Amino acid sequence: MTAPRGYAVATIGGDGIGPEVCDQAIRVLDEAADRFGFSVRWTDFDWSCARFAETGAMMPDDGIDQLRPFDAILLGAVGYPSVPDHVSLWGLLIPIRRAFDQYVNLRPARLLPGVTGPLRDIDAADLDMVIVRENSEGEYSTEGGRHDVGAADEYATQVARFSRHGVERIARYAFELARSRSGRVASATKSNGIIHTMPYWDEIVDEVAAGYPDIELRRYHVDALAARMVTAPGSLDVIVASNLFGDILSDLAAALVGGLGLAASGNLNPEHTGPSMFESIHGSAPDIAGQGIANPIAQIQAGAMMLRHLGEADAADAVERAIETVLAEAAVRTPDLGGAASTAQMGTAVVEALSREPGAEAIA
Ligand code: IPM
Ligand code: MG
Repeated sequence: MTAPRGYAVATIGGDGIGPEVCDQAIRVLDEAADRFGFSVRWTDFDWSCARFAETGAMMPDDGIDQLRPFDAILLGAVGYPSVPDHVSLWGLLIPIRRAFDQYVNLRPARLLPGVTGPLRDIDAADLDMVIVRENSEGEYSTEGGRHDVGAADEYATQVARFSRHGVERIARYAFELARSRSGRVASATKSNGIIHTMPYWDEIVDEVAAGYPDIELRRYHVDALAARMVTAPGSLDVIVASNLFGDILSDLAAALVGGLGLAASGNLNPEHTGPSMFESIHGSAPDIAGQGIANPIAQIQAGAMMLRHLGEADAADAVERAIETVLAEAAVRTPDLGGAASTAQMGTAVVEALSREPGAEAIA
């Protein structure tokens, strides 16, 4: 007999709607664990802007060490109007991404049947892309500062740092992923306007591409790529992009597939040398926090990505199918999707759909 599989997962609900949607993801993942013969031990951390108000820090000094032993982290949302965004995010989300070398931010965007996206005449089959966002350097660097403060010509600089190591590894991840998909990679550049970093990015992506003769690489300036995502989304599949470009393109992609309520992401350490972190990309939505009307699908989807990363692919597939069933049936929908269901009702609908999925016994 093999030992039962068990995973230790840290949950950081965070701010605003984060804890509400996390609760629903946990319910769904517990159901998946039951059906697929593994267990998840959840440990909750109250790190948030509320904690900042009480203690002056988003997380404790040894926060990173506390997270290190976990198999994965499920994160709700970070940020609230009471704390400046750069303080809250650089006090929690970004340090975790960096400390655990989560250098891939994987952001799938697929139009699901039953969901109406904003594009006319686009079939669900024509909108299925994944953004591979560099998550450790690039435009999100700490280099730079304020200069000549108080002078008439005061200015600020922000240095974008692109290392050979950083670009190589994200490009390689994208090419490997493309092998399991359509075999096409689009690289987001801006080497016509950005004179140092972007030509360097192109050069390294080309070098990596030489090792993947089976993959078709196309390079697009990011502005034109944004337009193409809207006018010809079916021509795109894997998109590899720098930290900032990937950030912007992934919100656009989310909007194209029905909104931020459906978009999830994985901050991946592909080598598993530290825990990876899974989150919805919608943020804390202070305007609707506490009302119980936030759409939990993105967070549940993030949970499915987590299961896949942990090696529970059958369970991840089943959760994704359950989400698809609920969206296609359209009986239970939160207000962002035009319905009147609550966060918990949507969570229940996914749990029920999952309970109708074949479990481990049927697949084995
Ligand atoms: C995201 C978010 C974050 C980012 C912010 C909140 C710092 O927009 O995960 O997409 O830019 O990485
Ligand atoms: Mg973003």
